Amino acid sequence: MINAQSLTMHYGSFVALDHVSFQAREKGILGLLGPNGAGKTTAMRILTTYLYPTSGTATVDGIDILQNPIEARKRIGYLPETAPLYSDMQVEEYLKFVGQARGIAGAALEGRIGWVKEACGVGGVWKHTISELSKGYRQRVGLAQALIHDPKVLILDEPTSGLDPLQIIGIRDLIKELSKEKTIIFSTHILSEVEAIADRIVIINEGKIVSQGTLAELAAEVRSRGEVKPGLSLEDVFIALLMPKRKERIKV
Ligand SMILES: Nc1ncnc2c1ncn2[C@@H]1O[C@H](COP(=O)(O)OP(=O)(O)O)[C@@H](O)[C@H]1O
Ligand SMILES: [Mg+2]
Repeated sequence: MINAQSLTMHYGSFVALDHVSFQAREKGILGLLGPNGAGKTTAMRILTTYLYPTSGTATVDGIDILQNPIEARKRIGYLPETAPLYSDMQVEEYLKFVGQARGIAGAALEGRIGWVKEACGVGGVWKHTISELSKGYRQRVGLAQALIHDPKVLILDEPTSGLDPLQIIGIRDLIKELSKEKTIIFSTHILSEVEAIADRIVIINEGKIVSQGTLAELAAEVRSRGEVKPGLSLEDVFIALLMPKRKERIKV
């Protein structure tokens, strides 16, 4: 469904992404995991066609993002790090506005509005002004805007950052539910986050892919390097892959 091929991004002389390739199959959740500054946002901004890569490309649902960015965008819902909300609009008004901007009108728009209202659990704040909403509800409205055009692919940049534990569980459940129908890529620097919801994990550090696969595959990779502790947690894997000097921690 998504095929990133050797994505490279230079900001001046700084290399933020260095030949990054990964694939996401249809439906399910791909977790993009890496410390701050790893290049996660850069990769997502390229996939969503907001940023033009220095080299490399990607296809989304078979559409090349560089050759046909408009068609690619139609297939993608994007929730950036900061949800693109208009704080003086009411939730209903805002979602209608976003739907219209996506070229949806009439009964189709009413249908989509009703669906996102229900799916994202924003009915309770439907007539509220966005500036009044808690961070948790802002993220829900952010997800609703990303889903308004019923995209096949959802790209979510740190969707749970800044939320309290209950709000995190709410958003996680929502993402899991959506992954039955959609291909989702989400980024985080929090290990437990990918462990909780991702089917596949891409670990990225300093603009390079460190490893990718299921948690079991990543653990197997670490073990093949001589680490023998059974039942490696993702934290163990992460430490072994990103902080080799501390790998003794996983031998105890
Ligand atoms: N517009 C920019 N100009 C220069 N450097 C940038 C720009 N955007 C990001 N960077 C740098 O690129 C690196 C990767 O950033 P980013 O993709 O935001 O990482 P992440 O989302 O994983 O924290 C960081 O070192 C960041 O400072
Ligand atoms: Mg980021």
